[in-house]
Parts: sequence; structure tokens; C-alpha cells
Amino acid sequence: MNLICNVVGARPNFMKMAPVILEENRRGLHQITVHTGQHYDAQMSDVFFKTLGMPQPDYDLGVGSGSHAEQTARIMVGFEKICLDRKPALVVVGGDVNSTLACALVAAKLHIPVAHVESGLRSFDRSMPEEINRILTDCIAEVLFTTERSANENLLREGVASERIHFVGNSMIDSLRSHLDSAVADKPWQRFGLEPGRYGLVTLHRPSNVDAPEALAETALALDEISSEIPLLFPVHPRTRERIQHFQIDWKFVRLIPPLDYLEFLGLMARARLVLTDSGGIQEETTALGVSCITIRPNTERPITIETGTNHLCAAKRRDIVDAARSALTGIRARQALPRFWDGQASSRIVDSLENWLTDRLPTQPQEPAKSASTLKST
Ligand code: UD1
Repeated sequence: MNLICNVVGARPNFMKMAPVILEENRRGLHQITVHTGQHYDAQMSDVFFKTLGMPQPDYDLGVGSGSHAEQTARIMVGFEKICLDRKPALVVVGGDVNSTLACALVAAKLHIPVAHVESGLRSFDRSMPEEINRILTDCIAEVLFTTERSANENLLREGVASERIHFVGNSMIDSLRSHLDSAVADKPWQRFGLEPGRYGLVTLHRPSNVDAPEALAETALALDEISSEIPLLFPVHPRTRERIQHFQIDWKFVRLIPPLDYLEFLGLMARARLVLTDSGGIQEETTALGVSCITIRPNTERPITIETGTNHLCAAKRRDIVDAARSALTGIRARQALPRFWDGQASSRIVDSLENWLTDRLPTQPQEPAKSASTLKST
């Protein structure tokens, strides 16, 4: 039986890949999961396996942190050994983190086809490490799964053949829909003495926002000012915590707390009045939840969250952030429409395509000619 090798590495991968891995398991496909160990803290990694019900990874490369080159290189060396040993028929990577590109590159060089979950997104800003990872992964992927129409357009413009592009929707929203009810039932806001609909939630970790002392200081001043109107809770990413300490940035009113697990964060986000973030995934999750989101970035690779969702972009400037928050707090909050295929079934469509692709391209013994031909390319 053809072996599928799934790759996860950093926090945002877990929500995107968990439903795909669980669906492969449910269908009894022959699969293994490799965790690169790019994220390794209990709160950045282990807790996601538990809450998302993911099986423990078959391999953990334990690469940890480092410069981009060090981290990418360590992942490549470790992953190559697994590929040579297990000879997967297909490697499935997700998102845009260093683990995504590193494993895609290893597989492509070994002539192992790569499937990319969440392909085609473009911020058109090559100063973002994620943009480099996205472009290069899509260049070498054989099967490209997209979450929104703009991604299809980007890939076609870059010369990707249309039959390789599968518009399947957003598997991260599959995770959200599966866990939303229990996340809200837990009432995580009570733990922080907050009332539903009467607090804001903050996340910041992008190098452009947290590595420059001026940008981080401006944002801190803005958030403190907004806190006088609505309490703000800020689960701090380890890289941001380190930068805040290093630059000695003082927060007077915003409540800084350690990173939260998936369920706690989802429950808090679902009942927040406002979310301020620079994350990619949170722009999509707030759109799915119909919660106002201010994204502190000059661009987004997820334009659907602005066109039909609840997302607004904002520069990392004190006045801009405060004004954007005020208008979100006084405005009517209503999502216009849920993006197409953000319906909780994306992982099922992904695994349909993977099965069809494997049957089509890499027939196993014995073959089933009539059945496989009729189910090809359902997406
Ligand atoms: C990575 C992804 C980013 C994603 C983010 C989500 C890349 C290029 N970036 O950024 O796209 O949005 O994850 O969190 O892949 N650290 C810990 N413990 C951990 C992980 C990280 O302390 O478990 C600290 C280390 O100091 C590390 C720093 O965070 O050097 C940055 O981690 P890294 O994985 O390199 O990048 P992120 O900023 O997390």
C-alpha cells in the first residue's frame, strides 16, 4: 500500500493538518506523521496534539530553534533520512513555515511528489519569510490544495497547470468547527474575570512587528490606550516575550499571559468583541466566527478575509491602531458571507483528492480499473 507522509512542525500547522491526518486514519490509509520539532514548548506543540485528538507523531526530529538556515538545514537532514528509510509515495505539507519548505524540498529532490495544503496564498511581500516558503513550496509541489479563489488565480498566473490545483477550502476551519462548541462551553473568559463580548484579544509575533523596537513600542502604546476602553488579553508568543524583555517594553494595562491551548484560545476568540493580531490563521478564524479583526500588517495573503470577512489591515502606528479599534468597537459587527468551502469538509475533499491522485498516478496491486476511473478528480 502506498505510504503517505504527513509533516507538521509549528503551531499553525497543527490545526491545518490535524483534520487531514484524522481523515486519512478514518479511511484506513497507510500514513505516518513527522513532527519536525520547529515548535517544541508544551504550550506551543504538545497541547495541540492532545486537544486536536491527533495521534502522536511517528517521528519527532526535535530540531528546535535557530536561524532560518540552521533550522531549515536541520529539518532537511533529519527528514531526508526518514524519506530514504520509509520511501513514502507522497509527502503532505501544510502552510508556510520553515518546516513546510524544508520537507517539500527534501521530497522533491528525492523525486517524491509533494502535496501542499493551503497553497497559492501571496502577500506579494518577499520580506516575509513565509512568502518565500509559500512561493518555493508551490513551485515544487505536485498537488496544490487552495483555500480561496485568490490562491487559484495566483497559481495560474505563476504558470501552475490547472489540473494540479484543487480548490478544497480551509482545513483549519474544519478544526474550528469541530471544537467550537466545546471551546465556548468551557467559558474560558471566566478564568480571566472577563465577560463575553466585552474584551479584546491580542496576538503579535511577526518579525516586522516584534523585532523592531520602535514598532513594538508604538503598538504597546496603542494597545495600552485601547485598554482604557475595553480590557485586552494578550497571550504572548515566546519570541515576542523574549523581544519585550530585551527591549524593556512596559505594558501598563494590557494583560500579558503565557500562550494558550487551542480550545482556550478558540473559546476566547469566539466571544471577543475585537481581535488585534498579525497572525495569518487568526484572520481566517475571526472571519469564520464573524468577530472583528484588526490585522497589524501592511498586507495580507488572505484577501478573502477583507473582501467578505471581518478583517481590516492597519499600520503599526499608534494613531492608526487606536482609530481602527475605535471604529471596530463602535461599528456594527457582521460578517458578510462565509468564504466558499469553509464548511468543515475541506479535509474530506483533500483526502478524496489524495486517494484519487494515488490511485491515478501510483497504482497499487491489485488494481481496480473501473472504480478508480469513475472517481477521479472529484474536486
Ligand atoms: C513560526 C513561523 C510563522 C508562524 C509562527 C506561529 C516560520 C518562518 N515562521 O514563527 O509563520 O506564524 O511560527 O507561531 O516558520 N520558541 C520557543 N518555543 C517554541 C518555539 C519557538 O521558545 O516552541 C521561540 C524561540 O526563541 C525561537 C522563536 O520562538 O527562536 C521563533 O520560533 P520560530 O519557529 O523560528 O519562528 P516563529 O516566530 O514561531
